[in-house]
Amino acid sequence: SQLWLIVPAAGQGRRMGAALPKQYLDIAGRPVLAHTLARLHAAFPDAALRLCLDADDAHFSPEWVPFADWERVPGGRERADSVTNALAALEGVAADDDLVLVHDVARPCVALDDLRRLRAVLETSPGGGLLAAPVADTMKRADADGHVVHTVSREGLWHAMTPQGATYRVLCRAFAHARDTRVALTDEASALEALGLAPRLVPGRRDNLKITHPEDLSLATRLLSEAAW
Ligand code: C5P
Repeated sequence: SQLWLIVPAAGQGRRMGAALPKQYLDIAGRPVLAHTLARLHAAFPDAALRLCLDADDAHFSPEWVPFADWERVPGGRERADSVTNALAALEGVAADDDLVLVHDVARPCVALDDLRRLRAVLETSPGGGLLAAPVADTMKRADADGHVVHTVSREGLWHAMTPQGATYRVLCRAFAHARDTRVALTDEASALEALGLAPRLVPGRRDNLKITHPEDLSLATRLLSEAAW
């Protein structure tokens, strides 16, 4: 069956404080977006891509898209709205049982091994799943002034990364349910959880970082210069 990739890339990236949205910041001569799509394509050369871009995006160039089957989808107000638009664009195109993986454009360092393993796990995982890493740091709950209120046990705590996904039918049901019940979504797994499903955590490399803050860019640059993907 067909594998669908949804890449939300319609964010403004305000936390970077840069003039360009973070997906267009340069790493070794190419924008973050090009690196991310190259990784996805290397792992899934036969996948079809739906790329969420802001309607006013003046930076995008199709030369950065290595997929043969791809389309541009308008971004929405929030990340979840962008993904919703991409799911809607697949109506009548994707089959119910096709797997859909959603990957943040801002995660160019995702490893090929992890991508392939996630796909294999999701082929048999009715509640969908996501790449994730167990929390290593001690976690603190803070008050509004930045003082520690208490320590949160890190037992059973994970960082949710991307890709995240499920079959087309399950993902559409989850997003429709979240919309109807006004659940705020920052990822696909939260939509699946709200539906009562238990998405599978697939342990992935910790360096699948999301470029968010300025220091992340130099870290990503170093990671991407390493020979092995
Ligand atoms: O800002 P943040 O890092 O949380 O965004 C996560 C991803 O969602 C990024 O890939 C960003 O481009 C995308 N996004 C989007 N549409 C929005 C907001 C964010 O596609 N309205």
